[in-house]
Amino acid sequence: MNISSALGTLRSLEVEKVKQRLAADDLSVDELKEIVSTYLKIAETGNPADHGYPAMGPYAFSKLCVTALTRIQQRIFDKDESRVDVIVNAVTPGFVATEMTAYKGVKTIEDAVDSPVYLALLPKQEGKIDDDIPRGQFVRDRLPVDWAGEKDKF
Ligand SMILES: NC(=O)c1ccc[n+]([C@@H]2O[C@H](COP(=O)([O-])OP(=O)(O)OC[C@H]3O[C@@H](n4cnc5c(N)ncnc54)[C@H](OP(=O)(O)O)[C@@H]3O)[C@@H](O)[C@H]2O)c1
Repeated sequence: MNISSALGTLRSLEVEKVKQRLAADDLSVDELKEIVSTYLKIAETGNPADHGYPAMGPYAFSKLCVTALTRIQQRIFDKDESRVDVIVNAVTPGFVATEMTAYKGVKTIEDAVDSPVYLALLPKQEGKIDDDIPRGQFVRDRLPVDWAGEKDKF
């Protein structure tokens, strides 16, 4: 599982073309790299937030890309129908009191690891895909989040 963040949702991105491509089911790793390169070029001379990228800065954009990469990774693994047991998900631990947040946060570390551990210990898939099990998803509190749409507000 890949550790993302609630800040890494597509709602924080206002560059419509990039938003559509990150959400697309045919996004490739190379295209994702190009999107990141463009972001870095903009950051060399200015503030990407002034160009419609997340106001919360590179951290939010990097997490957004982690989630997009997760979806690509699952699609790549799913090409091999004999390996339905390989599952990749992105997960947000929530707002956790750690060094990163200067010990602010509403979750303890023990609470925050619940979803990552749940995903790490998903039951083994055999034969066919179980639709009730998160697969190539962005997960919060053990449930898939609509990271690309507007249904699920953080
Ligand atoms: N805390 C939150 O509210 C929150 C919310 C959403 C997502 N997250 C995500 O959850 C993950 C853990 O965050 P955290 O809050 O636990 O942060 P943290 O307290 O700052 O811990 C980060 C950990 O990553 C290690 N680390 C940093 N850079 C590294 C590198 N280049 N190579 C190897 N290890 C490295 C650090 O090791 P050292 O101690 O040795 O430096 C530390 O153990 C991060 O991906 C973060 O983005 C956190």
